[in-house]
Amino acid sequence: MWTISALSLLTVLPIASIRAVPVCSGTPEAVATTWYTGWHAQHLPLEDISWDKWSSISYAFAETTPDPSVVALQDSDAALLRSLVDMAHQHNVHALLTVGGWTGSRYFSTAVGSPENRTMFANALLGLVQQYGLDGIDIDWEYPNKEGMGCNLISEQDTPNFLSFLQELRATPGGQNMTVSTATSILPFTSPDGTPSTDVSPFAAVFDYVTLMDYDVWGTWSPAVGPNAPLEDSCAAPQYQQGSAASAVAAWTKAGFPAEKLVLGVASYGHSYHVTADAAYNGASSAGEAQPAGTTPIAPYPAFDAAQQPLGDSWDAIEPAGIDACGNPSGGGASGIFNFRGLVEKGYLDVNGTAMPGVGYRYDTCSQTPFLYDPKTSTMISYDDAESFAAKGRFIQQSGLRGFAMWEAAGDFEDVLLDAIEDGLGIGEDPCQGLTPLGLPL
Ligand SMILES: *[C@@H]1O[C@H](CO)[C@@H](O)[C@H](O)[C@H]1NC(C)=O
Ligand SMILES: *[C@@H]1O[C@H](CO)[C@@H](O)[C@H](O)[C@H]1NC(C)=O
Ligand SMILES: *[C@@H]1O[C@H](CO)[C@@H](O)[C@H](O)[C@H]1NC(C)=O
Repeated sequence: MWTISALSLLTVLPIASIRAVPVCSGTPEAVATTWYTGWHAQHLPLEDISWDKWSSISYAFAETTPDPSVVALQDSDAALLRSLVDMAHQHNVHALLTVGGWTGSRYFSTAVGSPENRTMFANALLGLVQQYGLDGIDIDWEYPNKEGMGCNLISEQDTPNFLSFLQELRATPGGQNMTVSTATSILPFTSPDGTPSTDVSPFAAVFDYVTLMDYDVWGTWSPAVGPNAPLEDSCAAPQYQQGSAASAVAAWTKAGFPAEKLVLGVASYGHSYHVTADAAYNGASSAGEAQPAGTTPIAPYPAFDAAQQPLGDSWDAIEPAGIDACGNPSGGGASGIFNFRGLVEKGYLDVNGTAMPGVGYRYDTCSQTPFLYDPKTSTMISYDDAESFAAKGRFIQQSGLRGFAMWEAAGDFEDVLLDAIEDGLGIGEDPCQGLTPLGLPL
């Protein structure tokens, strides 16, 4: 743990639990945060979290409701959140609650839609902070003035209303000295005319940091197999430039948001696709050589068959056709998501995250992410490994960003990814080594 608040130690911790952590006077605090999901808690019990490697952990999710004065937290989540906060504080780690998410963003627009609603919503969030002893709130609105799951209420005024809301939240007693962060798109908040905002600088005064969710950039909705979480894309052919960590940082800083308040969202999971061997080994087969699987380079951006979505790891399931969260008929099927730990369990990767013999592997030097191919099941997977996480860590350091946020804590295997990104960042060994010349209030 390299970030420490003397205040939180004195006010939150019983004296006996204070560890001998050096106080790094004048050094900035890197953000090394992750989301802890209630639905995967059984796979990562609180006591198994590597507490000394995180600056904060955010519980996912509380959800918006039609009533701006009510933020919904299931009973089981409430109990787990209490335990998370307790244990985090015992380890000098900040505990946040994430509000929203893909299915929980339905009513943000109305919650911030009028002065009265903003006051109610601010009080609801501050009430949760007080009730659970939180260090802050992480707002995961997917997305202001842009549809997410399909039935979110949206308004052209979402982005200005969001700013007004955050200003009010900060002005309300208790709102000033908690962490307020958001997880958002790689493009700046959508402006009233539907395009990315050209000036998001006022948001820097109200957010401690903004997490750029540089994942799901390519997925099974895309026209070809592409990188889930590209670090770069300017080196790709024009049709493959769908966004990246680098493009996201460029877009946000061009719109006036300071790099030192940007946090890179990173993924401990990947997407799987059904790809025929012909398409997978396209480059090699055109050379007319039969090559054993695992030695043949696999092709970039191959076509895939969306109708044959592979089942992902053991956390995935084939959902029956039914009604989706918006009440619309849905065809069901699998998500195809493989968490990094699932790739190890499945035998695709060894315990260090290296592709096993017989598994096709390609490290895409443009996106700086790996792909693997299982010829037996015609499954190609875009994911992240230690090499790609180390590259992202170096990028964060070189770009002067504030740190990283990993979705999700339980997806890693034995901290292979976490250790790699912290090594890339150059944090971890020296608890007083910071990232940026900025010390923000805790
Ligand atoms: C304010 O909240 C109410 C629900 O309590 C909602 O019906 C109304 O549309 C909201 N106002 C705006 C302007 O979004
Ligand atoms: C944080 O806010 C609370 C409530 O307004 C106040 O009692 C406390 O002193 C504040 N702490 C700091 C460090 O400003
Ligand atoms: C994983 O890495 C460790 C440390 O470098 C090494 O000792 C071990 O043999 C590796 N395991 C595998 C399966 O490659």
